[in-house]
Amino acid sequence: MNNQTVVILDFGGQYKELIARRVRECGVYSVIVPFDTPTEKINEMNPCGIIFTGGPNSAYDAESPKCDERLFNLGVPILGICYGAQLIAFMLGGKVIPCKKSEYGITDCTVDTNSVLFRGLESKQRVLMSHTDMISVLPQGFDNIAATAICPCAAFENGKRKIYGVQFHPEVEHSENGTEMIRKFLFDVCGAVGDYSMENYLEEQIDAVRKQVGKKRILLGLSGGADSSVCAALLSRAVPGQVVCVYIDHGFMRKGESEAIKTIFGARDLDLVLVDASEIFLSKLSGVTDPEKKRKIIGTEFARAFERESSKLGKPEFLAQGTIYPDVVESGKNKSAVIKSHHNVGGLPEDLGFEGVVEPLRYLFKDEVRKIGKLLGLPDELIYRQPFPGPGLAIRVIGEITREKLDILREADAIVREEIGKSKRTKADQYFCVLTDTRSVGVVGDFRTYEYTLAVRAVTTSDFMTCQFARIPYGLLAKLSSRITNEVKGVGRVVYDITGKPPATIEWE
Ligand code: XMP
Repeated sequence: MNNQTVVILDFGGQYKELIARRVRECGVYSVIVPFDTPTEKINEMNPCGIIFTGGPNSAYDAESPKCDERLFNLGVPILGICYGAQLIAFMLGGKVIPCKKSEYGITDCTVDTNSVLFRGLESKQRVLMSHTDMISVLPQGFDNIAATAICPCAAFENGKRKIYGVQFHPEVEHSENGTEMIRKFLFDVCGAVGDYSMENYLEEQIDAVRKQVGKKRILLGLSGGADSSVCAALLSRAVPGQVVCVYIDHGFMRKGESEAIKTIFGARDLDLVLVDASEIFLSKLSGVTDPEKKRKIIGTEFARAFERESSKLGKPEFLAQGTIYPDVVESGKNKSAVIKSHHNVGGLPEDLGFEGVVEPLRYLFKDEVRKIGKLLGLPDELIYRQPFPGPGLAIRVIGEITREKLDILREADAIVREEIGKSKRTKADQYFCVLTDTRSVGVVGDFRTYEYTLAVRAVTTSDFMTCQFARIPYGLLAKLSSRITNEVKGVGRVVYDITGKPPATIEWE
């Protein structure tokens, strides 16, 4: 990237990506790096500013994460947030102590409007606080520039050394002028010029792809999701006629999805290979009921099918992947327990024998990928698609998977997506159906029926790590139930899933 860059040092705080996105929204490129990245490496990035994230530790603990102390002498402006601010104070000779009373939530904060961070703002600011430690003594040469009722030093500055710290979280929406404060740090302290935009990212990546692949060919696994779709559109713009997209239909896609791929990408300057591998997947899954087994089989078969197809294509030299920035950022957290082995189309074995990998979206957050998709003229239905698991409907058919069950689920799912999608009164971030393995007795006319029970799942969530069930109006639930039981043969009962995550997960398997 040729842009001015802000380096974000990750101390394990949950808002690190939010900080990076806010900086980018201000028109300044940002990268997230681990907290212990050596100064030499940071220098190579030629940053115009450095931001320290928050984190769960206490600065005064011997074991807590610390940065390379030479960073403070680079002359590059630094802004510490929460733990990042405490760490700066601690490492430069100040004192950090546990708060008598922790401070969580939106708080009134009095700020010194003479400070460059707060210039032009009201002296009373509403900010989000979330801390159990606080700075009790500032290092020499530093001034206190904010306070709350609980926290006597809610922000500090050393204008000469261009080092700043805020105890609150300016990156979250609840801090009313938080973005404005970040903007002031970027433009008034770091001297940012705001040279980062999606238009110029797109142009740069088009150039980079051309340089990387020359006249050679690129193979891309197209899943129908936003990332691989935007990647395909970008590559066909960069090197028209040199891209082969392989779309493997495992038979678990939603209604109309494979046809839409054909229409959208068939009209672009790329070779589209559509492979119907549903027979193979279904036969491998015959008799399999265990969710993890299903996921593993689908992952393995997917990689196999992809290898088979790519070898038929005379081996294009490059492999493209729709990897995006959150997949790349190294996590400061420990490895967590495997709840589900996620499968994505990007999850191909590393050793497929390509000359190189092309990942033009690797530096982008999801909302930025969508903006690129728009610039490339992709339809909204593709760009704003809800997350759809790699194994598709296979993990929404509980128990053994059969064509008959898949067809039932596909029809019901289309109704649910249509009705919830058009309901203005319903707030739901993801909604779909699950075909349970339970049949139940019913009555239609004078006859007994014994058909499947279908579950409707709709959730509200901001990060898909936790969720609540969506409060769907009763009228809409009634409509879903009536349409599904009338229009979908094989469903005799419809239930609504009212479980949050935790304890449940969003998908049933
Ligand atoms: P869970 O069920 O883990 O789902 O609460 C969280 C989010 O992830 C999606 N999901 C997947 N996405 N490959 C994916 O790309 C997968 O294997 C997979 N499994 C679940 C799920 O739809 C939800 O949005």
